[in-house]
Amino acid sequence: MVGAGKDAAPGDAEGGTTAILNPSKGGVTNDPPSNSLPSWEGGFASALYYHGLTVPGCKLRRLEHPAFQASKHTNPEGQNMPGPLRVGVVGIGQRGLQHVNSLTQLQSDEIVNLAALADPYPENLEASKINRFVPGYRDEGVEKFASVRELVDSGSVDAIWFVMPPNQHRGEIEYAAGKGIHIFAEKPQSLWLDEVLRQSEAIDAAGVLSMCGFQMRHDRGYTDIRNYLADKWVASMTMISEGAVEGHGVKHTHTEEQGGPANRVWTANKAWSGTSIVEAGIHQTDIMRYWSDDDVEWVRANYVERPKELHDTEGDNPIYYSVDYGFKKGGMGTVIFTKPARSYYGGRFDCIVWTHGTIKLEDDIVDYHFDGDWPPDDKPSLEQVRKVVSPGPHDVAMGGDSTTDLSKSFAEAVTLEKPELLRNTFESSINSLAAVLAANVSNDLGGEKIVLDEFVNGQKYAKYRARPAGA
Ligand SMILES: NC(=O)c1ccc[n+]([C@@H]2O[C@H](COP(=O)([O-])OP(=O)(O)OC[C@H]3O[C@@H](n4cnc5c(N)ncnc54)[C@H](O)[C@@H]3O)[C@@H](O)[C@H]2O)c1
Repeated sequence: MVGAGKDAAPGDAEGGTTAILNPSKGGVTNDPPSNSLPSWEGGFASALYYHGLTVPGCKLRRLEHPAFQASKHTNPEGQNMPGPLRVGVVGIGQRGLQHVNSLTQLQSDEIVNLAALADPYPENLEASKINRFVPGYRDEGVEKFASVRELVDSGSVDAIWFVMPPNQHRGEIEYAAGKGIHIFAEKPQSLWLDEVLRQSEAIDAAGVLSMCGFQMRHDRGYTDIRNYLADKWVASMTMISEGAVEGHGVKHTHTEEQGGPANRVWTANKAWSGTSIVEAGIHQTDIMRYWSDDDVEWVRANYVERPKELHDTEGDNPIYYSVDYGFKKGGMGTVIFTKPARSYYGGRFDCIVWTHGTIKLEDDIVDYHFDGDWPPDDKPSLEQVRKVVSPGPHDVAMGGDSTTDLSKSFAEAVTLEKPELLRNTFESSINSLAAVLAANVSNDLGGEKIVLDEFVNGQKYAKYRARPAGA
């Protein structure tokens, strides 16, 4: 259910508060509320990934790069030892605070050293504010910066967690990667594909490690689904997310000073969020790729726009989204999002169909599949077909535990020089982002079928890849 009316806990990733109905909270920010591999990731490369040998977008030769030496220290015998990774977080807002929370835990396990924070708004860097959301956070020894450039130039960190709004990136990832800093980037990495490709090129050229913020790949139940499906052909995946405008949180970016929404609820705003499919539906899109070990090949989408007269109070994002994906191995995915206002309703429906079974996310994750001689003389009982794929209870897949595990795997991939710990890379995640950006374009073009390869590379869609003037 939508967490409307209460501040969600740091562990709830995308949840929110009664932002729209309580605009007076806008100034104070009341939250935090709330993998596989493409032509980038699939096939042979994926098999290697599962055997722990490599991960696409992350060639092992890069371990020679000086960036991989940065987090080491030397023991009394003069041997290189991996030390806690010196980490900086950029963007101390709703999600940034969740990362500070996870990184604070990982610091106590000596996996990271939370060395620096950056945010253009001084209040977001104040310990008194951070402690309201992360009681365990300790300010001592944490350097503060107003910009990414200052943070990078300080030499204080080996890796940066980028947690800024997606429309605010202006070359920061490219700059940091160019200085040998490992890149953790929250989704969506930008709202414009040209910029995403430039970010990816910079990461590739620098040879640093990278990861995107798809924490559902670190959920136990969802990983059990992936493993269960490893030897099966997936025909369809359907995910319906019934949300509500009230579910959006009041954010920490001063959008009202930057021509954005006056109430700081930028996830309800198209120019800032890129639509709910880009901002939130990217998670469903990415988890379908993880489950099926496949990539999106084409996209077809139709939205229902919110009536114009409601934009001032409810935001200008669509009220209904229907997105179909064609996957490279021949299966299909469907994501449906609903975002009415005043319903205060939250619900979901998930169903995965493979050639001989139907997987449902019940208290346990279950596959309905008859594995006796078929057809049987008598209709089998429920017990005979109901197979538990992953025993419950399942915690929230988007929650704090999976976020901490995500960050832990990135930090350890760097310090232990084990890129095989990564369940995605920046490059491998482009397929998920291109898919949701193409959904917007398909809708704009009346439901046109968009082949992602052409969307990413073709002249036909070049104008949709570029940041519009003034954006
Ligand atoms: N993986 C998840 O579950 C999840 C959940 C929520 C948000 N997110 C993503 O995290 C990112 C941030 O979202 P949020 O909810 O924290 O938003 P937010 O507005 O609450 O926080 C963003 C922070 O970035 C800062 N910022 C803005 N411009 C900056 C710049 N140029 N340099 C440095 N800092 C800057 C803002 O001051 C603010 O503190 C978005 O990409 C969002 O999609 C991911």
